[in-house]
Amino acid sequence: MSIKRFGVSLDSKLLDELDQMVHHNQFSNRSQAIRFLVKKNIVEQKWDKDQDVTGAVVITYDHQIRELHARVNRLQHEYHCLILSGQHIHIDDHSCIEVIAVKGPAGKIIKLANKFKAIKGIKHSELVMSGTD
Ligand code: NI
Repeated sequence: MSIKRFGVSLDSKLLDELDQMVHHNQFSNRSQAIRFLVKKNIVEQKWDKDQDVTGAVVITYDHQIRELHARVNRLQHEYHCLILSGQHIHIDDHSCIEVIAVKGPAGKIIKLANKFKAIKGIKHSELVMSGTD
């Protein structure tokens, strides 16, 4: 993929804020920061427009709570068409994290993430919205 250059005009306040963002995020330069922002915006639009997206649902729960692990497992089977893979990590004697990679129409992914969140006993659930472009 060829790299094309173009000029960007910004007022001095916005340029200062861009430079602060470069520093804060440890980007190597302004171009990298602008590329990151453009890609982030494209990913967000895909999620907003119900296009095909990728991401991950990260959930934490206590496996000692009766039926909780089975409920999490059943939901993954029910939505296997949207789930690429899952990783179960035992954090301590009873706490577990599951990282569930997902791919599909944004609306269905959000619905699935909400279903994980709604399982009674889940400590934390977060949908990481990502993209592959
Ligand atoms: Ni576990």
